[in-house]
Amino acid sequence: MRTVKYFMMAVLTMGLVSGLGMFRAADDAKPKYSIEDVMKKGMKGKPSLCAKVASGKASKDDQKKLLEMFECLCKSKPPKGDEGDWKKRTEELVSATKEVINGKAAGGKALQKAANCKACHQAHKED
Ligand code: HEC
Repeated sequence: MRTVKYFMMAVLTMGLVSGLGMFRAADDAKPKYSIEDVMKKGMKGKPSLCAKVASGKASKDDQKKLLEMFECLCKSKPPKGDEGDWKKRTEELVSATKEVINGKAAGGKALQKAANCKACHQAHKED
């Protein structure tokens, strides 16, 4: 009986430890949306989700989704280019989207400017 008890305790402890380890790994390795996801779901298309939000025509849900995606961009590492520059660009996307959500008139323009496809691709996208 005693060995069973120790065995169970060992199993439980191990489960707990590996469970915590997994949480941590999931936390810093993988944002919910990869850069590719954000590009396909947020930037591509006519009109893209990003363009809709910038024009002020997006629903609250769409606005929130875009914000979530841009927050993932901030946490991702670009395939190339300077990380400081990447942070700056992606944080501008986040803050412009927040301005739109908060009903600030300048938000839409700021978002259009921050969502500069070519400039960001030249700096951070591999060809
Ligand atoms: C903040 C920087 C940034 C901005 C702004 C940006 N992109 Fe990107 N985009 C990237 C990076 C980095 C990649 C490469 C991702 C990779 O290879 O993992 C990429 C890749 C892409 C891809 C290829 C995705 C795939 O299938 O692999 C498309 C399409 C795309 N971008 C469209 C756009 C469009 C359209 C805009 C403007 C409305 C835009 N992007 C604005 C950074 C940006």
